[in-house]
Amino acid sequence: MSITEQLHQQRDAALTQIASAGDLATLESVRVAYLGKKGSLTAVLRGLGSLPPEERPLAGKVSNEVRVALEAALEARRAELSSVALKARIGAEALDVTLPGRSRPVGSRHLIEQIRAEVVDVFLGLGYQIAEGPEVELDYYNFTALNTPPDHPARSLQDTFYVRDLSGERSDIAGESDVLLRTHTSPVQVRVMESQKPPIYALAPGKVYRRDIADPSHLPQFTQIEGLVVDEGITFADLKGTLDHACKAIFGPDRRTRFRPHFFPFTEPSAEVDVSCGICAGSGCRFCKGTGWLEILGCGMVDPNVFGYVGIDPERYSGFAFGMGVERIAALKYDLPDLRVLLEGDMRFLRQF
Ligand code: PHE
Repeated sequence: MSITEQLHQQRDAALTQIASAGDLATLESVRVAYLGKKGSLTAVLRGLGSLPPEERPLAGKVSNEVRVALEAALEARRAELSSVALKARIGAEALDVTLPGRSRPVGSRHLIEQIRAEVVDVFLGLGYQIAEGPEVELDYYNFTALNTPPDHPARSLQDTFYVRDLSGERSDIAGESDVLLRTHTSPVQVRVMESQKPPIYALAPGKVYRRDIADPSHLPQFTQIEGLVVDEGITFADLKGTLDHACKAIFGPDRRTRFRPHFFPFTEPSAEVDVSCGICAGSGCRFCKGTGWLEILGCGMVDPNVFGYVGIDPERYSGFAFGMGVERIAALKYDLPDLRVLLEGDMRFLRQF
């Protein structure tokens, strides 16, 4: 085969490979195979010097033409492949701004939180201020300073979660403890009166704990909202007016309230407040057990003995206090037959509110 034929054969083979190269890397390897330092065309060009002198001009011309042709073909294919690669990248990165956005479900406050906020709003509107106390409380605040002596049945192990020092480092509370989970929000009354001077208009929402087994009407952890007013000339009429207003604001203007005598160690006189049943409007139904009334809170005039613990002069000041259960309000407002749904986190129930 003449050198010209060899060169043309190489050219044709190279052109076929260039045309069929599917990407830039393959194309580059074709270039190296023919035109690289150790490429086959390069080898032919190097061998030109050993040809007989009369063959050299033609061989030189043809090999040069072949090299130029291959370089042009390589360049053209390279341009083609790069634009394909660019288009593919742009296609892959394309943003369709006309697509509808992905919507996230909007959360909402838990029913207990909603009611707590509603009640807080009512009292903020009356000028009350929010107060707080610890959930892990001292026996002194939960009982003693609330006029609840050590032998009072409310202190029973059956009602109260005591916090005991299991490390044994504190011998003073070994066996029995003066630290407990507060059983009501009333200890916040004592803390407020210890740290503030009258006039006091305070509201203390918070979690409380009792050793109850959860059932339709009991929860071992629930939420109370405590109210405390201490000022000059506060009477039971102020208590009644305030709570009647609050009940109408919470349950609706057509609800009525009634006060029943009751006992709490830290108020005297004490009362329980019922609100008229929303289902039968007071005529009696299954929900209100035929009475027409639903119990919703405990209250009373601050016992002078409690003032004694915090150094407030009972001759000058008087006050009232109340405590309402938020879960109970939720149950009454929305006719919930079982309080446990409020703690279970079942979205099918919670989404309704
Ligand atoms: N702390 C009482 C309870 O949990 C409620 C209450 C609060 C009663 C304030 C009177 C005054 O039952």
